[in-house]
Amino acid sequence: MPSLRFLGHSAVQVRDGDQKVLIDPFLTGNGLAPVSAAEVEATAIVLTHAHNDHLGDSVAIARRTGAEIVAIYEIAAWMGQQGLQAHGMSIGGGFNFPWGWVKLTPAWHGSTYQDEKGHFITLGTPAGVLLRMGGSLLYHAGDTALFSDMSLIGRHGVDLALFPIGDNFTMGPDDALEAVKLIRPKVVVPIHYNTFPVIQQDAAAWKARVEAETGARCVVLQPGEVLDY
Ligand code: NI
Ligand code: MN
Repeated sequence: MPSLRFLGHSAVQVRDGDQKVLIDPFLTGNGLAPVSAAEVEATAIVLTHAHNDHLGDSVAIARRTGAEIVAIYEIAAWMGQQGLQAHGMSIGGGFNFPWGWVKLTPAWHGSTYQDEKGHFITLGTPAGVLLRMGGSLLYHAGDTALFSDMSLIGRHGVDLALFPIGDNFTMGPDDALEAVKLIRPKVVVPIHYNTFPVIQQDAAAWKARVEAETGARCVVLQPGEVLDY
């Protein structure tokens, strides 16, 4: 049974046996992060999009650990230019890695990285991530608006879904509640809230609504907490 450790914002570490897969490892500058980029363990890194609060510390972590980066083709190619090992995919495509199956799904958002000089680099389109490890299917929605094709993602049979609820940059609580109804996961965890003043939300109130209106169990994880799924 895999486990999910919440690292604050949209960053998580999925563990299954010896495998430690980071998704969107934004740790430096993430005031909620329970671990530093210099210490976090990773055997692979999966990215939903290139925004700095998602691509985050990927380059430094991959350099230190040798973790392979999995992302949309343009991010992967850019990582390759940094001398890192990266595997490019595109929306709708799945691939079996030795450590798990990944499929990139649509997301309505942007995907521009701002480098240390402040220059914006557009790196493909944003994505969501389906990740099957240890027989369980995780859906990380990335940053996205609500869209009705989430019902097509739901047909994969999602065990655990991570939805942004922060509003302003992504779905807010109302739309994220509708997303739960379209994906129909067994368990849902809210992410991408309370990191910055503009995305403050009441996760306990959202949990109550999810459990009253859908068949899903909602678990509000504090940064550093772990959930088996
Ligand atoms: Ni974003
Ligand atoms: Mn974001």
